[in-house]
Amino acid sequence: MNNIILTGFMGTGKTEVGVILAKMLKCPFVDVDALIEEMSGKKIPDIFAQEGEDYFRSLEAKAIKKAIEGEGKVISTGGGALIKKGNRENLNKGGTLICLTASPEEILKRTGSREGRPLLQRKDPLQKIKVLLAERKIYYDALPLQVSTDGKTPEKVAAEIISKIF
Ligand code: S3P
Repeated sequence: MNNIILTGFMGTGKTEVGVILAKMLKCPFVDVDALIEEMSGKKIPDIFAQEGEDYFRSLEAKAIKKAIEGEGKVISTGGGALIKKGNRENLNKGGTLICLTASPEEILKRTGSREGRPLLQRKDPLQKIKVLLAERKIYYDALPLQVSTDGKTPEKVAAEIISKIF
């Protein structure tokens, strides 16, 4: 099996759906954000606070290369994984990419306290979500396999992904 790579904005359920999908397919699950934390020995908010976003993005690029090695896995990326051209190339080579989507209001609800999501630690997170979505739209929309997650359980989303791929 080719790797199945879940991408899409924060709060679209990439990790939750990824875990369930990997169970359904009886294969390993790799979370790129968790790999970054493992590689750096730091939590993502601390990397942003202490080293800044550019440094985080360089770790993210390395973690993506590592995650896509081999095949037969379900992989979840962070929401900004498609920003860098090199990542887009590696991810496209590394497996079948699925873009999970959700409305800005649903994303706001799901990201809750926004703890662990340094980019949404603002007075007006909904506005920030809309701005980032608009900036990244071109990269998300370019992926042929799109799955909307609004009002769906992670199990339903995982089942939809299976029906689209197999
Ligand atoms: C980011 C999304 C986060 C994490 C980091 C940056 C982004 O991952 O990689 O905070 O730029 O959208 P999730 O999408 O899993 O929250």
